[in-house]
Amino acid sequence: MPRALVVYESVFGDTERIARAVADGIAGRLPVDVVDAGQAPTELADVQLLVVGGPTHAFGMPSEATRKGAVEQYGAEIADPSAGLHEWLDAVRLPPHTDAAAFDTRMDHPKLITKLDHAARTEEKLLRGLGATLVAPAERFIVLDAKGPLKDGEEDRARQWGQALGELVTAAGP
Ligand SMILES: Cc1cc2nc3c(=O)[nH]c(=O)nc-3n(C[C@H](O)[C@H](O)[C@H](O)COP(=O)(O)O)c2cc1C
Repeated sequence: MPRALVVYESVFGDTERIARAVADGIAGRLPVDVVDAGQAPTELADVQLLVVGGPTHAFGMPSEATRKGAVEQYGAEIADPSAGLHEWLDAVRLPPHTDAAAFDTRMDHPKLITKLDHAARTEEKLLRGLGATLVAPAERFIVLDAKGPLKDGEEDRARQWGQALGELVTAAGP
């Protein structure tokens, strides 16, 4: 049975909250699972919609170095700094014709700075490289500080975005 999968990386829990809200939104249209990238399977058989999201670290996706930075600078607890969303996207194999969308969390910066990259742009590049079809532009969700919390209203916005994604990918189907 076709389903959706939301795969996230989250150091302080904010991106996980967004991932779960996106999944709540999708759930009205498709059965959906939410999985931490470190635990996610790398062979996906029946996934119609894949949504990925992670925090922005150093203007891009987290790497082993930035995860270690999060431990050293912010006291984060990360069981395995060598595993995360980028590493999962490097390893996963997608079924043909997978629809996909990307999001990230980040702090609020002037537009000029957010244009530099930020995680979602790299996530989209990796998804395209896997042969996925991006069904909607990436979304950005704002945290008020490096360790959170999310800005008010971001989880509602994530739920609405998830709902829109679910409607988009099921509109043409049964
Ligand atoms: C090592 C490190 C680097 C970061 N670099 C950026 C950055 O370049 N731009 C930005 O907007 N936020 C940056 N942040 C803030 C993160 O985006 C924020 O920690 C994240 O959105 C929180 O999500 P999480 O609770 O799921 O980890 C950085 C945070 C850490 C720990």
